[in-house]
Amino acid sequence: MTTGVIFKKRFGSLPGIFRAPGRVNLIGEHTDYNDGYVMPAAVGFSTYVGIAPRSDRKLLIHSEEFPGNFEFDLDALPEKRVGAWCDYVLGVASVLQQQGHKLAGANLLAHGEVPIGAGLSSSAALEVSSALALLSLTDKHMPLPEVAKLCRRAENEFVGAKVGIMDQFVSCMGKAGHAFFLDCRSLEFKFVPIPAGLKFVVCNTMVKHDLATGAYNTRREECEAGVRIFAKWDPAIRALRDVSIAMLDRHANDLPSTIWKRCSHVVRENQRTLDAARALTEGDLSRVGELMRESHNSLRDLYEVSCRELDVMVEAAEGLPGFCGGRMTGGGFGGCTVNLVREENADDFAKTIAERYRQATGINPQVYLCSAEDGAEALSWS
Ligand code: GLA
Repeated sequence: MTTGVIFKKRFGSLPGIFRAPGRVNLIGEHTDYNDGYVMPAAVGFSTYVGIAPRSDRKLLIHSEEFPGNFEFDLDALPEKRVGAWCDYVLGVASVLQQQGHKLAGANLLAHGEVPIGAGLSSSAALEVSSALALLSLTDKHMPLPEVAKLCRRAENEFVGAKVGIMDQFVSCMGKAGHAFFLDCRSLEFKFVPIPAGLKFVVCNTMVKHDLATGAYNTRREECEAGVRIFAKWDPAIRALRDVSIAMLDRHANDLPSTIWKRCSHVVRENQRTLDAARALTEGDLSRVGELMRESHNSLRDLYEVSCRELDVMVEAAEGLPGFCGGRMTGGGFGGCTVNLVREENADDFAKTIAERYRQATGINPQVYLCSAEDGAEALSWS
C-alpha cells in the first residue's frame, strides 16, 4: 500500500507526501566530521512521510513498519530523545521550533524502505522527509542545504549521535546518475557523473556490532586529539582537513600511535576522495577501484572500523566479472559494502558474492542493485 492509502486509513484524510532517500558512500569515509571531502550518492531506497494538519497542538506519529504510536504536545516536546524511532521526527520538530518556526499540530505517518541498521542512512532519510513534511505546514520555504543542516543538528543535539553532515546533505541534494562530491567545510559541492553502464551492488553483511555508536564517538575524539597536537606545530590547523600528507609523514613518530593511525587515515582519505572524483570524471574506473580498495584497507588497518564480515564481503568481490571496485560504506562495524559493477554482470555478481559470503560466514546476506537517484522531494498524492 502507498503512504497515501495507509495515511487515509489511519487518519481519515489525505496527506501531503514527502520522500527522502538513503545513500551509499563511494569514498570519503569518516572525513565529514573532520571538515574533509566525501563522495556519496543517493540510492533508490526512500522514506516517505505523509502529513496533514490538526486543529490542536498535538503531533501524532505513526508507522506501519516501526513499532509504537506516539502522541506529543508541540508546546511541551521532550528535550532529549525518548529512545524510539520517533526521535528522528521529534528532534527535527524540536530544532524547527527552537529556530522560531511556528509548527502546526499534525498527523504524521512514516513509511520506510531504507534497510534499518545497514549503514544506508535510514535515520537521515527519516529526518529529511519529516523536516520537509513539517515545514510544508508552515509558510516558510527552507533551501535544501539548510534542511540538511537542521537535520544534522537534530541528530547531534536531540538524538545525541555526533554524526557529520554527509548523510543528510546527500539525502537532500542527490542527483540521479551522479555521485555527490561535497566539501564538508565550505559545503560547496559538485555532481560527478557516474559512467554509463555501471551499477552499485550494495551487499548487506546483516551484522551490526554493538560497539558502533561508542566507537564512532571515540574516533571523533581521537581525531580531535590529533588536531590539538598538530595545532601546536601549526596554529592554522583547525581540523584534520588542514593537515597535509607531508606534515603527517614528518610527524609519524611524534604522535601516540593510535592517534597517528586515525589521522593518517583521514588525511590520506581526503586525498583519495579528491583523486577518486577526478578519476570518475575521467572515466578511469581502474583508478577509482584502486582508491576504493585503499580506502577499505585504511578503514580496516588504520581507522579500525571494519569487521570480519565486511572484510569477507570485500574480498568476495575480487576477481568477479565486471567488478570495478568495492569497499565498506558508512560508519562501519557491520552494515554494507558498495561495489561498482558493470551493468551486464551485476545480476551474476550479486548471486556469486552472496554465495561466497554465505559459505564463508554462514550468514545469508541481502544484495541490492542500485543506481544514483534524486534527493528529497515533495510528491503528488497517490
Ligand atoms: C555515519 C555518519 C556520517 C559519516 C559516516 C562515516 O554514516 O552518519 O556522518 O561520518 O558515518 O563516514
